[in-house]
Amino acid sequence: AQCSHPHTPLQCQPMKAYRAPLLSFDAQGQPLYESDGLLLTAPDARGTERVLASGAWSALSHKLQAPDAQGVTVQHWPGKLIAPGFVDTHVHYPQVDVIGSPADGLLPWLENYTFPAETKFADPAHAQAVASVFLDELQRHGVTTALAFATSHPTSVDALFAEAQARRMRLITGMCLMDQNAPDGLRNPPSAPGRGDAAEHSLLQSEALIQRWHGQSRLGYAITPRFVPTCTDAQLRGAGELAARYPDVWVQSHVAENRDEIAWVRELHPQARSYLDVYHRFGLLRERTVYAHGIHLDDTDRALLRDTGSAIAVSPTSNLFLGSGLFDFAAAQRSGHLHGLASDVGGGTSFSPFETMKAAYFTGRMALESQGGVPKAGLSLSPAHLWWLHTAGAAQALGLAGVVGNLCPGAEADFVLLNPQATPLLARRTAAAQSLAELLFAFIILGDDRAVERSFCA
Ligand code: GUN
Ligand code: ZN
Repeated sequence: AQCSHPHTPLQCQPMKAYRAPLLSFDAQGQPLYESDGLLLTAPDARGTERVLASGAWSALSHKLQAPDAQGVTVQHWPGKLIAPGFVDTHVHYPQVDVIGSPADGLLPWLENYTFPAETKFADPAHAQAVASVFLDELQRHGVTTALAFATSHPTSVDALFAEAQARRMRLITGMCLMDQNAPDGLRNPPSAPGRGDAAEHSLLQSEALIQRWHGQSRLGYAITPRFVPTCTDAQLRGAGELAARYPDVWVQSHVAENRDEIAWVRELHPQARSYLDVYHRFGLLRERTVYAHGIHLDDTDRALLRDTGSAIAVSPTSNLFLGSGLFDFAAAQRSGHLHGLASDVGGGTSFSPFETMKAAYFTGRMALESQGGVPKAGLSLSPAHLWWLHTAGAAQALGLAGVVGNLCPGAEADFVLLNPQATPLLARRTAAAQSLAELLFAFIILGDDRAVERSFCA
């Protein structure tokens, strides 16, 4: 067969064709829906499957008559829904076994459950086993891209990257920088006992991991200062310098999640204007920088996020579970800073994007705006916008617009096949849906992993 499409590899590989109801987004974030859609994909020169075209069957089916489409079988799934794979902008793979650990807020939760669980990742066999479970869970729930925390042990990063590479997943992770206020076995150690170079050693380890993994297959590295309280000034400064030397590497951390945490940061850095300003002073605000939570910010902080191209990973199930507070979607929209949805497992309670979108919706409803002293009912975020925030919008927050999270030509072919009949109640509600908004809202409110029939990774 003759190949003419732009992603033709040297050895011609056949295109693949999927016909079903189809959801994607335009460049403005508006939903594009085809009740009878066609998605065409083919591998690029590196073997990564990419979208050739997506749209109405009636507009695209002629492409199946082209010479290079001879012999292509069309997978036909009427009554299902093809949608972009979900993008989780913040999740902790070592916290799979921490989900649902009760505590009186963030700091006791970290000390009593999370830090002890993470200490176990010094053992590569444990890391490998949990990495596999973690990626199984992401894929079962339709998440095809994640920006994930590992632990402070470099082997925990190796384990997750190796497992993701074997699955051809797009995954970004990095080792936790935490050289103070953390227990032995988790705090970054010096290069040899008795030496005082823990910050320097942790940064050299990070750089070695960048060189080993960043840009391999679909993997990316994230410089990962855990949060201000666990990092010395030297470590934060070094992380900022590393971020400047590797501009296409990601940065991930936490900011302004919990009031006790914020008071602690104020004690540690009394000269800073705000918690976010600490990161700014150390050169840790730039594009491809993603801070989880960002609940207790002010408009100066939000303008700083916007002007530096930094993003917030909104983590509503975690914020409700830990009682951290309600993310202010209205203020984020007004300021225009990047933000996307995140599970934040194990502070978060579910891998399911439907659960996360639902919690985001509740959060918007409950965040009372006080205007002129008069409380005003919160937002009613539209289902399409919630979905965008977990797909194309999340990808944009990660600096991956057009690469993942959507089904535009050239995008990596990460998509999910959803089943509107997965449960009796979902079947009943989706059958009665009169609009795309009602269909998407039925998935958000009633859907779970049973609705994800298949996840396709490139
Ligand atoms: N802040 C610092 N570390 C963590 C963590 O593991 N989870 C959450 N939710 N917040 C943090
Ligand atoms: Zn987190």
